[in-house]
Amino acid sequence: MRDLVEAAMAARKKAHAPYSKFYVGAAMRDEKGRVHAGANMENAAYPQGWCAECSAIAHLIMAGSTRITEVAVMGNGEALCTPCGGCRQKIREFAGGDVKIHCCTESGRLLQTFTLEELLPASFGPEHLK
Ligand code: THU
Repeated sequence: MRDLVEAAMAARKKAHAPYSKFYVGAAMRDEKGRVHAGANMENAAYPQGWCAECSAIAHLIMAGSTRITEVAVMGNGEALCTPCGGCRQKIREFAGGDVKIHCCTESGRLLQTFTLEELLPASFGPEHLK
């Protein structure tokens, strides 16, 4: 889990968040054990920005994976930063309910671990369209 947290911290340093100044880093492990990270990217046209989790998911998919097996995320300071509602659903596309989401402080201390099912109960996912 340490590698995941460190990747999220390194990604957070690359956040482009000049408007909110809320810097978020996220990292996701794939089914091969590889780690993919990303940061939030804000835009002067505010709604065009996107979350750290989106950047990390894009890296995971572009590396040829289709499964998220573990997630780490952190925002500013010591406060708990959980993935926003939209990101929970985006993670759901590539993860089962048992996937762990580690929420850490800016300095990488683990605050709380949730399962995706805890953060997004009774969720709608790709199976519903089969
Ligand atoms: N943000 C994320 O990157 N991930 C989340 O799950 C919560 C919010 C970003 C979006 C925006 O750039 C900043 O945090 C403030 O909302």
